[in-house]
Amino acid sequence: MAEMKQAPAGAGAGEKLLTWVDNRFPATKLWNEHVGEYYAPKNFNFWYFFGSLALLVLVIQIVTGIFLVMNYKPDAELAFASVEYIMRDVPWGWLIRYMHSTGASAFFVVVYLHMYRGLIYGSYRTPRELVWIFGCLIFLALMAEAFMGYLLPWGQMSYWGAQVIINLFAAIPFVGPDLAILIRGDYVVGDATLNRFFSLHVIAVPLVLLGLVVAHIIALHEVGSNNPDGVEIKAKKDANGKPLDGIPFHPYYSVHDLLGVGGFLFVFTAVIFFMPEFGGYFLEYNNFIPADPFKTPPHIAPVWYFTPFYSMLRATTDWMVNVLAVIIALGAVLNLIKGKGDGKTKVAGLVIAAVVIGLLKTFEAKFWGVAVMGGAVVILAGLPWFDKSPVKSIRYRPNWHKLVYLVFVINFIILGYLGVQPPSPVGEKVSQIGTLIYFGFFVLMPWWSQLGTFKQVPERVTFKPH
Ligand code: HEM
Repeated sequence: MAEMKQAPAGAGAGEKLLTWVDNRFPATKLWNEHVGEYYAPKNFNFWYFFGSLALLVLVIQIVTGIFLVMNYKPDAELAFASVEYIMRDVPWGWLIRYMHSTGASAFFVVVYLHMYRGLIYGSYRTPRELVWIFGCLIFLALMAEAFMGYLLPWGQMSYWGAQVIINLFAAIPFVGPDLAILIRGDYVVGDATLNRFFSLHVIAVPLVLLGLVVAHIIALHEVGSNNPDGVEIKAKKDANGKPLDGIPFHPYYSVHDLLGVGGFLFVFTAVIFFMPEFGGYFLEYNNFIPADPFKTPPHIAPVWYFTPFYSMLRATTDWMVNVLAVIIALGAVLNLIKGKGDGKTKVAGLVIAAVVIGLLKTFEAKFWGVAVMGGAVVILAGLPWFDKSPVKSIRYRPNWHKLVYLVFVINFIILGYLGVQPPSPVGEKVSQIGTLIYFGFFVLMPWWSQLGTFKQVPERVTFKPH
């Protein structure tokens, strides 16, 4: 048994209680490790608000979700009306519901900005690969959580959106049709689907999300935070072993983050009180019509945060599969002529390319659309290994790298816009080019990230007191 500590003579009741707890549970130790003596770089900027904001939105979603469940009915006959009941009759029900629906979109706004920060400052690189990978898993879980939550109001978009997306799984070779039935619990989206999505949305996925967020933060605190300069602050420590460029998270960043919370709540409440539907982007107008399995809406679009990926799915037509086959063939030939490997690896490259092209042509384009959509999320996890740049932060990369990131972001926004629009021939071509740009950014990164003249990274972080 560990030795019991004694509270100092004359200690107050609070201190005595804390000593009693500390002898049985590492309260002070945990506080110091993660808050009071967690040394974070002193040069954090605006981009560093979004981690704590993501935590805040997570809490908002859980708390409002608990209150929604008190009046919601997971039954295909009752679900739609129970949401209307929450909106009209439950005291403050409208506020709780709008906080939750706006919170879903706010979650993605905050998380997309949080991921973008990681991208530009190279926060995914050694030693933070696991922080990033836990982040990618969080993103996947968040997508599943949002998708299943969207079915619950049982409106037209809930119903038909789920129908479209679950049918996609049926395109997976061999197991697809059975998998789709397993997900739906029926041959069409129905009461069984609503019940299982309710269960997964309310308990299973939130548990996974919480676990992943804890793992994300433990991993981050093990290696320490990156910063806008991409300089490792642990490399320079004072006589007490504290990083010279580090400041304790509390009170410095706890107070700093409150500024972010204030700014966020200002915008969040403005949306809730003045435009909760957000022009049909946060709550789609068709979803105010109860689900009708006999009436397919003319245009089914997912909520905005899924649309870049949805665009890539729609872009994967037979023509696009042929383009991919040609690109892979050209890549293999180029590797044969100019590649660095020996004869054996070059031949292996040719064989792999031939097999992939064979597979591309064997299965239908719809399946490859699903693969492209899934691949677009999964590929993010490879970033720590794709990026071969000698520096982490965008600040010290060649200027034209900034242009590459700008193209990537604009392309992602265009894909998102096209995903909301009804299909059109021009839209299809643009989204095909967009899909190639999206994947090109990652696949070619090992090559382009090394090119150009890099700036000298300073020894210490750059910081101007303000
Ligand atoms: C529920 C969602 C999430 C929560 C609550 C969350 C929370 C946090 C918090 C509190 C931090 C430390 C503060 C900060 O650096 O901003 C952080 C850092 C980080 N997060 Fe997340 N995160 C989430 C999702 C993600 C996702 C989806 C990714 C990427 C795919 C990601 C990647 C990172 C990285 C790389 C860092 C380290 C940044 C640095 O040190 O520069 N996170 N996260």
